[in-house]
Amino acid sequence: MNINFNVDSNGYYGKFGGVFVPKELEANIKELRDNYRRILDSDEFQNEYINLLKTYVGRPSSLYFSEKLSQQYAAKIYLKREDLNHTGAHKINNTIGQIILAKHMNKKHIIAETGAGQHGVATATVCALFDMECTIYMGAEDIKRQSPNVSKMKMLGANVVAATTGTQTLSDAVNEALNAWVCNPSAYYLLGSAVGPHPYPDLVSRLQSVISKEIKAQLTEYESVEYPDYVIACVGGGSNAAGAFYEFLDHLPTKLVGVEAAGLGLDTTKHAASLTKGKEAILHGSKTLVIQDENDAVMEAYSISPGLDYPGIGPQHAYLHDTKRVKYIAVTDDEAMNAAINLTKKEGIIPAIESSHALAGLAKIDFKENDIVVLNLSGRGDKDIEAYIEYLKLN
Ligand SMILES: Cc1ncc(COP(=O)(O)O)c(C=O)c1O
Repeated sequence: MNINFNVDSNGYYGKFGGVFVPKELEANIKELRDNYRRILDSDEFQNEYINLLKTYVGRPSSLYFSEKLSQQYAAKIYLKREDLNHTGAHKINNTIGQIILAKHMNKKHIIAETGAGQHGVATATVCALFDMECTIYMGAEDIKRQSPNVSKMKMLGANVVAATTGTQTLSDAVNEALNAWVCNPSAYYLLGSAVGPHPYPDLVSRLQSVISKEIKAQLTEYESVEYPDYVIACVGGGSNAAGAFYEFLDHLPTKLVGVEAAGLGLDTTKHAASLTKGKEAILHGSKTLVIQDENDAVMEAYSISPGLDYPGIGPQHAYLHDTKRVKYIAVTDDEAMNAAINLTKKEGIIPAIESSHALAGLAKIDFKENDIVVLNLSGRGDKDIEAYIEYLKLN
């Protein structure tokens, strides 16, 4: 059977996805849905996007063979170095693409949400570059946890608005950004992950698919094969994983592994494991898997990593989980922090705590000796230095 792992013409991945937005946003979503493919596929868009990825972001990002991790895990481990991108993570691939799209749609004001601040910085950066007004919603708790990124956004000229409802984290920032869009429909909402109403999950995945396109070309050069045995990525909303998996979805021999945050443990209520523990619900505009309490209320997500503590997941991942095309595992705060320390000591690379979850996933997979494994190192750990120091003091 030939399964379509990508979005169908109605905006669904199997039973997940769709468009569940207030009436006031329907026209905006329709405008985006009617235009995004035409603009993305145009030569004009592609030329500008590819040129900026090369000259501004610094792509292709390197595919680094880690001899020490390869010895440790008895397989050939490559790291896809998204941490080397301008602004320090994969998020810039998406913001460069969406700002060009916004320009083509004659938009002048950008609204965005951010959790770890990486998407906020990447958005503020492209707004500076394209001379657009920029308003970023960020949970008040995340503002405290990621203060260097908040300072960067302000220096780049963004207006950072604190979301003070709920847990004051990413989920609340999304709610407030969507509300702001309702009040200001002429703005462009630049979503930072593969979540939200159709067409955002598809749009973001397409823009992040540059990651897997490069992996294919680089593996051809280094290993004379296009397809690795494994691709591993962390999942928050799911954008870096969607981009790293994109080109391999239809090649079933390539095993795909997504790693979500088990926080303090899956047997506690302090985690963000929406795929492992979630139930179907509508969150932030689409039908997906969401962690919920016994009364079916959305549970507070928790992870030491601010980019992963989101109670939902992009609808494509919910479908890839359902169809078992991707195996999703969960690692705890402690496992992720130890994996970060291990990489730092062994390779001299300080990873983002989000990416450290993918690194911790390595210990949970039974590799064969010659397996070619690509791990998407989604970001660098500069923003997390305080959290690492605090953790090392306590442990
Ligand atoms: C470095 C890094 N990796 C991963 C993520 C998780 O997001 P996503 O699942 O959309 O890739 C974030 C989110 O902020 C991030 O900053």
